[in-house]
Amino acid sequence: MTGLPWDASYHDGPAPWDIGRPQPAIVRLASEGGFAGSVLDAGCGTGENTLHVASLGLSVLGVDVAETALAIAQKKAEDRGIEVEFTAADAFQLKRLGRMFQTVLDCGLFHTFDGDERPRYVASLASVTEHDGTLYVLCFSDDGPNSGPHPITQEELRAAFNPSNGWNVAAIEPDRIQTRYHDHGAPGWFATIKRF
Ligand SMILES: C[S@@+](CC[C@H](N)C(=O)[O-])C[C@H]1O[C@@H](n2cnc3c(N)ncnc32)[C@H](O)[C@@H]1O
Repeated sequence: MTGLPWDASYHDGPAPWDIGRPQPAIVRLASEGGFAGSVLDAGCGTGENTLHVASLGLSVLGVDVAETALAIAQKKAEDRGIEVEFTAADAFQLKRLGRMFQTVLDCGLFHTFDGDERPRYVASLASVTEHDGTLYVLCFSDDGPNSGPHPITQEELRAAFNPSNGWNVAAIEPDRIQTRYHDHGAPGWFATIKRF
């Protein structure tokens, strides 16, 4: 697992992406009924999105390589009385979870991987996403000023997820990703991707 550098980003107060509340795009998606069945939050960090979805009564597993983030997430779950599962797992090895999910969330993880890492990550996601399941990717985009550190183009998303590897991109919409250093969020893509 590649967790130690990531873990360090949680040692001295909140990381730049750790806004202490769920991303508005995820709250909106949840309110529209976008989450169904068993849910996986890949790269859950301190768990705000995971906890939000779990608070709606869904069965949710949040995974991350950063043990410090997972400990914070677990403590929040206990403090808030929310039933949810957090576990350490490498997003490149999701098959090892031995479970399948109807809905998978990637909020801010895809855009951290280099082009040559993406095929392995996408295959790992495919190995745990049920037939006809849905993957949501919220990532920094190249669409507008003040972009985040790893802006992704629509073409990169479509190249990573395509029929040759078991995915159909259903929609890519412009959105915002809130961070601790953007007043009104950074430009993002919200992609809805179907597994077949
Ligand atoms: C930009 S943060 C986003 C965290 C969270 N989703 C959020 O919205 O606050 C990316 C997260 O992915 C985790 N991560 C990075 N590489 C990973 C990997 N190979 N497997 C699992 N998690 C990973 C990091 O530890 C970090 O918590």
